[in-house]
Amino acid sequence: MTLRIAPSILSADFARLGEEVRAVVSAGADLIHFDVMDNHYVPNLSVGPLVCQAIRPHVTVPIDVHLMVEPVDRLIPEFAAAGANIISFHPEASAHVDRTIALIKSSGCKAGLVLNPATPLNVLDYTLEKLDLVLLMSVNPGFGGQSLISSVLPKITAVRERIAASGRDIWLEVDGGIKPDNIAQVAAAGADTFVAGSAIFGTSDYAATIATLRQQLARATPSN
Ligand code: DX5
Ligand code: ZN
Repeated sequence: MTLRIAPSILSADFARLGEEVRAVVSAGADLIHFDVMDNHYVPNLSVGPLVCQAIRPHVTVPIDVHLMVEPVDRLIPEFAAAGANIISFHPEASAHVDRTIALIKSSGCKAGLVLNPATPLNVLDYTLEKLDLVLLMSVNPGFGGQSLISSVLPKITAVRERIAASGRDIWLEVDGGIKPDNIAQVAAAGADTFVAGSAIFGTSDYAATIATLRQQLARATPSN
């Protein structure tokens, strides 16, 4: 299984964002996780398509856009035009989830559905076969630097089983509170893609931090 590290820009220095994303990519990031908050669906405000477009020339890996916005649809073509590669959204924020998935795919991006800690797995009924990615929140969305909610661990395993049963190559990403001391547990539960904001951007040597995260992953999954 391919394991991916996705630094979240939310904890980067926004005054030097181009430099920051270049630094994490050269430090070994597999994706750039781009958190979009609207002060409506979540109680915080971050950045939009203009900033995605501005960092695109600095990023040589896919940009993984996590939309914490309501409504969702109007922003999808804008992010696709701004260079997003993956767009994920929260089903509670879309009145027509199937239509939103179709819109993401017709914009040329991979589509992901995001489940909050209390969102039940039945939102994957009738959607999983159309998704490229499932993003499980291990914190309540809105802020970086929170602690991982451990009840998400069995949920990760349950989603991994559903993905395996689907027979499709659907990524299973986990977002919130991932650190060197818990990433192995998250991997052992079944995740393959790991968002880390404060754990990476809060340190001074990104390459050393990403190497530590990968060492912990290798410990959790010796066959990889
Ligand atoms: C939370 C965001 C996360 C967050 C992760 O709403 O979706 O991506 O920035 O940050 P850490 O890794 O610091 O929990
Ligand atoms: Zn996120």
